[in-house]
Amino acid sequence: MAQNPPDDPRIRELRAMREKARQGGGADRIAKQHQKGKLTARERIELLLDPGTFNEQEAYITHQGDELGVNTERYLGDGVITGYGQIDGRLVYVYAQDFTIYGGTLGEMQSRKICRVMDLALRNGAPIIGLIDSGGARIQEGVKSLGAYAEIFRRNAQYSGVIPQISVMLGPCAGGAAYSPALTDLIIMVERNSYMFLTGPEVIKAVTGEIIDPESLGGSDIHMSVSGTAHLSAPDEQSALALCRRALAYFPSNNIENPPYQNPQDDVLRMDDSLNNIIPLDPNIPYEMQDVIQTIVDQGTFLEIQPHWAENAIIGFARMGGHSVGIVAQHPSVMAGVIDIDASDKIARFVRTCDCFNIPLITLVDSPGFLPGISQEHGGIIRHGAKILYAYSEATVPKISVIIRKGYGGAYVVMSSKYLGTDINFAWPSAEIAVMGAEGAVNIVYRKQIESAPDPAAERARLAQEYRQKFNNPYYAASAGYIDEIIEPRETRLKLIAALAALRDKYSPAPPRKHGNIPV
Ligand code: HXC
Repeated sequence: MAQNPPDDPRIRELRAMREKARQGGGADRIAKQHQKGKLTARERIELLLDPGTFNEQEAYITHQGDELGVNTERYLGDGVITGYGQIDGRLVYVYAQDFTIYGGTLGEMQSRKICRVMDLALRNGAPIIGLIDSGGARIQEGVKSLGAYAEIFRRNAQYSGVIPQISVMLGPCAGGAAYSPALTDLIIMVERNSYMFLTGPEVIKAVTGEIIDPESLGGSDIHMSVSGTAHLSAPDEQSALALCRRALAYFPSNNIENPPYQNPQDDVLRMDDSLNNIIPLDPNIPYEMQDVIQTIVDQGTFLEIQPHWAENAIIGFARMGGHSVGIVAQHPSVMAGVIDIDASDKIARFVRTCDCFNIPLITLVDSPGFLPGISQEHGGIIRHGAKILYAYSEATVPKISVIIRKGYGGAYVVMSSKYLGTDINFAWPSAEIAVMGAEGAVNIVYRKQIESAPDPAAERARLAQEYRQKFNNPYYAASAGYIDEIIEPRETRLKLIAALAALRDKYSPAPPRKHGNIPV
């Protein structure tokens, strides 16, 4: 073998090139990034992935046009770092925008790099994670950067439901940098250091005259509690990336696999007597549904999604006997758990997320119905509520429901009721299932009888009491076959785990079609 000098110039050149790529937009811009309390793209990837597993691709790509000025430096990587690595030993593809290079903005070559890892992720059935920190479309590249975004959006849509796509927002994300995440399965934001808007404060001021700062326009508080665009948030970048790892553990690598099983740290036969006392005897007194959920699932595994938006509905991932499940529930202490427009969107979207990734659904029902009101009707509650019906009817994953307390009218039907195709329906003895509440019902059905009675108030009360006796329990519904088993609340965990095991090999083919037409 030929003996090359120890300082072979070709190896030296490669090392110099690697170092140059590592420098991104230069030491000054890296320092600026750190001053803002932000990590660099490389530091983020290191934190996200299992140590030492990252392999970078296309590190030497630069922009190809002369739009940025022929004499302008062509930064290696063109503002994004792409490649593959592992999370919990599982293959993932990742891209991280580098704000130190042209503000992480997206042009033709950056898009080509991102699309390349998206394509590899699809072909290899692995999740794609985007760490987003970008001013959006690169102004200097004009239509090329718009087309470049379209290439990504198309892949986001076509790969949706095939591989998990997660976006972690780590800076000011404008325009396309907000739209692409909106097409992915989960958006995680960093509090006070990430923003999402289509047009920023300056443009809004010029067009509408409204004055607003970036945080109030598109900070994590807004997207976590007002717009419903983000799913999770964390106080800093380290915890946002840790949250991404945690959330991914509930997902399979692709739509053909099942989510990974984790050895349960909790007894599958555990019963909890406290549940037998959790529902107040007075049906108008609320209780904490989160306590019910935490008690039923494997301890410490509940990851609530969108906890501050549409709080009358609760959604989240958990584990039951080590298996990943999606939980959907009402929150009786927020607006009595009524279903409104935002709750409908929240539930429907989550049901579909679970269904496309083979995550069984457990639905805990306690809702007095859909929210009445002109603003709800005019806001399209019919269209939005229909999304829940559509999502549950379409879902082929194992579906189990537990009627905890109220299941009235439309709320009973939409919340995974038996004839929407739910596999196993449980009820607690506190369940009340009826078309509507007692007072409303007797006023409609017995109006003439009440009006002609010598004491209308007493007659109304008597009839309402009769109605309650008939419907304020699960036995009428069970006698008609709408409930499979009435269980003691303390048995819920073991009953659910047994039901999940009974449904593990569920086969539920759907009729062939191009795709359905969900009311969006
Ligand atoms: C080119 C850009 C840029 C852009 C920022 N930069 N945005 N370069 N195109 N869109 C550059 C800056 O010139 C600067 O370069 C570096 O990135 C950092 O930007 P700063 O402004 O210094 O940083 P900061 O103060 O943190 O502000 C970040 C920002 C702001 C909030 C993102 O730059 C901004 O508002 N940019 C415009 C956002 C926008 O409107 N984008 C277009 C969206 S339209 P130097 O050399 O100084 O480091 C879109 C269409 C997609 O995306 C299609 C959707 C359907």
